[in-house]
Amino acid sequence: MMYYFLLLGIFFVTSNAVMDLGAPGYTCDPSLMAPSAVKPTNVHAVRPADINLVMAMGDSLTAGYCTDDTSGCHLEYRGLSFGGGGDRGLDNHITISRKTQAELSQIAIEYQQAEKAIEQSGDFDTTDDFTLVVQPWFANATLPYFANGTVNRAWWAVDCYHFSSYGHALLSSWYWKNLLQPVGDKISNANLTVPALPLACPDPSCPYIRTTKNSMNCQQFNGTCVSNGGSCTTGAQCCGGLCFNLQCM
Ligand SMILES: *[C@@H]1O[C@H](CO)[C@@H](O)[C@H](O)[C@H]1NC(C)=O
Ligand SMILES: *[C@@H]1O[C@H](CO)[C@@H](O)[C@H](O)[C@H]1NC(C)=O
Ligand SMILES: *[C@@H]1O[C@H](CO)[C@@H](O)[C@H](O)[C@H]1NC(C)=O
Ligand SMILES: *[C@@H]1O[C@H](CO)[C@@H](O)[C@H](O)[C@H]1NC(C)=O
Repeated sequence: MMYYFLLLGIFFVTSNAVMDLGAPGYTCDPSLMAPSAVKPTNVHAVRPADINLVMAMGDSLTAGYCTDDTSGCHLEYRGLSFGGGGDRGLDNHITISRKTQAELSQIAIEYQQAEKAIEQSGDFDTTDDFTLVVQPWFANATLPYFANGTVNRAWWAVDCYHFSSYGHALLSSWYWKNLLQPVGDKISNANLTVPALPLACPDPSCPYIRTTKNSMNCQQFNGTCVSNGGSCTTGAQCCGGLCFNLQCM
């Protein structure tokens, strides 16, 4: 296995001609990357380090199909997937848990608009233990063309359709950036020619995974919204936590 270190701080790992992309030495202000002092019970006050579990639902792209296959497509590499993966460590491969010009069909555009409408409807903002946020970075993404007009094939797996390890890692860098951008100010035109490096850090004025509510007013979630373990009749008395059988959860 050979390693190349580029000036940009991009880390390429090659093995059987399969390229990958890591973010070695990723660091943010420690206070921004520390977990909350008390485990948050409010979904709008979740810091990146509070996350214990990442789950993904999707298609063969999400499942990392073909990603690391070197001839023909045989396997799913779920651990390398940009959304749900966690394999290899951040130094070697960017994933969320470690840390085409799109000809979008009309259906894809309508799907995105429907997602956005659900987010904005507030249907998932009636309790503070669940929410839905659209991450639009891919909506108007620019495909990875080199300046000379050549497509960067490293982005794709051997079938020229699914994403390679490098592709998944690059997508993950943009996805991460979007997760930390406030709703209403999320980029929707990722330039997939280049990874979003250095990887984004949480905003010091709102160091949480951004949601619709904390994007409107973040201060309300600062420091106060933790479950106090006391008795309650409504969720509000639990500082945004759940009131279950008259007990704050
Ligand atoms: C993508 O670009 C199109 C055309 O400029 C625009 O109508 C659409 O709103 C954009 N989508 C997003 C999610 O920004
Ligand atoms: C275009 O640029 C890329 C990256 O610099 C290079 O690898 C490729 O050979 C170039 N293609 C042509 C046709 O010049
Ligand atoms: C994407 O990034 C490349 C490399 O920095 C740059 O040459 C290109 O102009 C960018 N494309 C767009 C659409 O911004
Ligand atoms: C949260 O509140 C504390 C104490 O009131 C303050 O020192 C801190 O700057 C606030 N943090 C943010 C991100 O607003």
